[in-house]
Amino acid sequence: MKNVKAYRRASSAAASVTKDNVLATVFHGDCFDLLRSMPDHSVDMIVSSPPYCMGREYESDNDLATFKASHESLVPQLTRVLRDGGSLCWQVGWHVKNAILTPLDYLVYAEFAKQQEMVLRNRIIWTFGHGLHCANRFSGRHETVLWFSKGRTYDFDLDAVRILQKYPGKTHSRGPKKGLPSGNPRGKNPGDVWAIPNVKANHIEKTDHPCQFPVGLVHRLIKALSKRGSLIFDPFCGVASSGVAALIEGRRFLGRNFAMNTSQSD
Ligand SMILES: C[S@@+](CC[C@H](N)C(=O)[O-])C[C@H]1O[C@@H](n2cnc3c(N)ncnc32)[C@H](O)[C@@H]1O
Repeated sequence: MKNVKAYRRASSAAASVTKDNVLATVFHGDCFDLLRSMPDHSVDMIVSSPPYCMGREYESDNDLATFKASHESLVPQLTRVLRDGGSLCWQVGWHVKNAILTPLDYLVYAEFAKQQEMVLRNRIIWTFGHGLHCANRFSGRHETVLWFSKGRTYDFDLDAVRILQKYPGKTHSRGPKKGLPSGNPRGKNPGDVWAIPNVKANHIEKTDHPCQFPVGLVHRLIKALSKRGSLIFDPFCGVASSGVAALIEGRRFLGRNFAMNTSQSD
């Protein structure tokens, strides 16, 4: 009975965002229920950071076997609900046990590689300045975002996310282009290494959530990989940083969050 109720709530969540006049919906509950109830090809972009076995309070289990098992169930569902030509961005870090590191994006990649239509487009290194100071190895200052497109054709608006050239206004010094700009006057491609401050104690976006990603990280992804009016889905939305970025950029948003040790009601 509990499952039937959860399924009904999840179905109505999924249905609400298919209405064009609904801008954002954030539901409380297990994203696996929501995913099962969502129609095929129903979202334009998925961007998320799942629980990644770091021993946070919202994680019931903190081991690699749980991470792998949850991705075995998640990945086929995520692929199913994403429309053809849509993008999926999955942000994870490292699992550390007994001073041994496992890069979690390897495990994520292995699951997506089983889905024929999911094509890896970039492995983005997100680098930041703050974190634990390690005494026996170099302090960890990066995590990764794997960006997959569903299929070979996909939306990519590079102009929307160009950054300032290193030497703006620089011109060719000789040859037929002498005097003309040597770089793109609209700015340069930001590359696949992004330095964006992580959300720690004094960060302006900090809430009580122990593990937010910065709006700036997801903002660039959404601008480059979706169009205005697109539906962005974050199955593990936490405090909905991805929802904030989506609404700033005129996209719609569906999110699901679930906190351990709290009563579960939508
Ligand atoms: C790494 S955090 C993501 C934080 C988010 N990116 C943000 O900026 O706030 C993972 C989130 O997933 C939530 N979560 C854990 N299991 C879940 C589940 N089965 N369904 C939905 N959310 C879940 C946790 O409560 C946590 O807020």
